[in-house]
Amino acid sequence: MHIPVVNFRPVLEATRQTWEENLRQLMERQWFILGDQVRAFERDFAAAMSAEETVGCGNGTDAIQLCLRAAGVTSPKQEVITTALTAPFSGIGIISAGCSIRFADIDPGTLQLDPDDAGNRIRKATAALMPVHLYGQPCRIDRFARLARQHRLALIQDACQAHGAQYQAKPLSAFSPYIAYSFYPTKNLGCLGDGGAIATNRKTTATLLRQLRDGGRRGGQVTYRAGINSRLDEMQACYLRAFLPHLKSWNEHRQAIAALYDEALRDCPGVQLVERTKDSVCHLYVIRAAKREKLRAFLAERGIGTGVHYPVPMHLHPTFAACGLRKGDLPHTEKACREVVSLPLWPYIPRAAALEVAEKVREYYRGSTQRKG
Ligand SMILES: Cc1ncc(COP(=O)(O)O)c(C=O)c1O
Repeated sequence: MHIPVVNFRPVLEATRQTWEENLRQLMERQWFILGDQVRAFERDFAAAMSAEETVGCGNGTDAIQLCLRAAGVTSPKQEVITTALTAPFSGIGIISAGCSIRFADIDPGTLQLDPDDAGNRIRKATAALMPVHLYGQPCRIDRFARLARQHRLALIQDACQAHGAQYQAKPLSAFSPYIAYSFYPTKNLGCLGDGGAIATNRKTTATLLRQLRDGGRRGGQVTYRAGINSRLDEMQACYLRAFLPHLKSWNEHRQAIAALYDEALRDCPGVQLVERTKDSVCHLYVIRAAKREKLRAFLAERGIGTGVHYPVPMHLHPTFAACGLRKGDLPHTEKACREVVSLPLWPYIPRAAALEVAEKVREYYRGSTQRKG
């Protein structure tokens, strides 16, 4: 059986009628930027995320950049504390706002940014915190909100992997007015190209973000501030509007498959599960695996796709050399980067496919123990 790491086809099939109708309306209307589709999607996405407003933009990286610009964190003298275990675009979003980046280590159990370590690194130059809700699991956002209040810092939430996630029955919008989402195709809510949005409960922030994403304009041809050009386009909104009503049930399916993987791999030698709370919307199913690359090759030979999120911690990317950290400086992050593997997971993955994947992982470690013995 061929089991890819993600599969869009069933998503497209299940929603075809709706996106075809949305596209028909768009072609009829012929208004391709910031029109009815985006407006309707922003309204529905806000309701689905329990936020007052959402503001569409070009991608998740820009959503982060726009949040920082709206919070006034745009100077190289201002630092943003974040995790080094995330998509490099989290960091690119930060530096593209013009500020500096400072990495803190992760909690080795959950792999989320550690609020204690982040708190210890706050100094005079710190202007913002940006924890990431990694793999769909909300981080300890209550702790970060407290740190932000105590130290008067902006709190940006990178929720690019966590559409629909809540923290202990509270919406993410309850913790800060800057929540960045990506609609990259593989996300829990993805479009068929690039797209992103910011959720906020603050009307004034939403208004500012609408100007900043549209070149600083207020609807006309005059620009009032140095914004960027980063708008969610109408065509992507046609797909997103068709997918959004399914987000809850797709997330539930992801959660059920993640629970199945947990059960099947809990006592597997060579495998360590990542701690997960019931709040996770399971964007990725990640394990820590001994001899990771050999396991991946074994699975690939049997038609099973895997991913690594992420192989190189951000403080060791040449782009972020200015952060001043070297190998060994973030030990929990660096160890995780050597061990993490993402197993196949998508909205309609059959249970039988996940069981097959888990069985092959077990088979690999049975064989590898025997080979060693
Ligand atoms: C955690 C995280 N942050 C930021 C981004 C950037 O989103 P985008 O690719 O839409 O710019 C991504 C996706 O790549 C992500 O997974």
